Amino acid sequence: MPVQNPLARLLTGLGVGSRPLEPIVPRRTLDDVILPPATRRAVDLALVQVTSRDLIFRQWGLAERHPTGLALAFNFAGPPGTGKTICAEAIAHTLGRRLLVVRYAELESMWMGETPKQVVAAFRTAREEQAVLFFDEADAVASRRSTLLDQAAAREANTVVSVLLQELEAFDGVVIFATNLATNLDPAFERRVRTHVRFEQPGPVEREAIWRVQVHPRFTPLAADVDFGALAARHAVSGGDIRNAVLKAALAAAAEPGPDDRKRIHQRHLEAGMAEVIAAKAVMRQSLFDDEAGHGRGAADRSLSTSGWLAAAALRGSLAPLALAGLSLLVATAALVVALLC
Ligand SMILES: Nc1ncnc2c1ncn2[C@@H]1O[C@H](COP(=O)(O)OP(=O)(O)O)[C@@H](O)[C@H]1O
Ligand SMILES: [Mg+2]
Repeated sequence: MPVQNPLARLLTGLGVGSRPLEPIVPRRTLDDVILPPATRRAVDLALVQVTSRDLIFRQWGLAERHPTGLALAFNFAGPPGTGKTICAEAIAHTLGRRLLVVRYAELESMWMGETPKQVVAAFRTAREEQAVLFFDEADAVASRRSTLLDQAAAREANTVVSVLLQELEAFDGVVIFATNLATNLDPAFERRVRTHVRFEQPGPVEREAIWRVQVHPRFTPLAADVDFGALAARHAVSGGDIRNAVLKAALAAAAEPGPDDRKRIHQRHLEAGMAEVIAAKAVMRQSLFDDEAGHGRGAADRSLSTSGWLAAAALRGSLAPLALAGLSLLVATAALVVALLC
């Protein structure tokens, strides 16, 4: 059940540790992000746009002549766990700026009715801190939402899109949106975001490199039997899955008996970690499916019972006067008979 307000969140303890607006000092660099060649080229081009924009508009003074429409807006589109978030962090790192992360879904549920104000605040903070503004998981904000059934929510969503476009127009920094759905962006938004970078699932070569960057080159104790090439070839998964598998493997290795300095992460730990991640994903998919099916059924039930109720009401509405009329006719006939007989 979505938690709708800050108090409820506080009471349920949800949202602890993930704030809707969070400035981050970037640590990861572009070397930590392993991308297929086409994606890497697109990211490099995006960076060239940022650095040459700085040269043209700041050093060459063109910003004074052309004060609006200077924001550089990028959309990183791709499936979960393909490195959109760490790439945004690495870009901020390259530019020597902080990354201001806006977790849009959190922001929206935490500040129901105040979302547009919060969006304005995010741009203001980014301006003050000269930070790279990053709308993580921005599908909701960027997509067409006139389909929303709830009128108030639909109005707010439309307001958010127009506020966002206004803010983008007035902003002169770098804004990155991360979306999981490449399609279905609001057309006005689509026009404003000129550079779309597509994040693809990694191929075997990238996967092997991702396995490698997930461990520390010096401190992580890997056993001699570890074969990242084999893991990469066997499991066609995302970078996020590889990360989770490595963490599970490390936990399992650390939990084994014996002195710490003898502990090693073995291939079997990594394989088991990956098996767990894959199993967990299957469970997630299953429950998502069940949930959807359940919702489907629920909605059908609701609409069925609604129509049943409506029909009953309609019947009640039309039958009641009829019954009343019938009854009075009966009484009148009885009265007539009595009158005639007497
Ligand atoms: N392309 C990649 N290169 C290196 N690590 C990756 C890559 N993709 C994902 N990861 C790992 O998975 C984690 C989650 O990735 P993230 O950037 O949050 O994905 P997304 O934002 O696309 O859902 C990262 O912290 C990183 O450890
Ligand atoms: Mg992410």
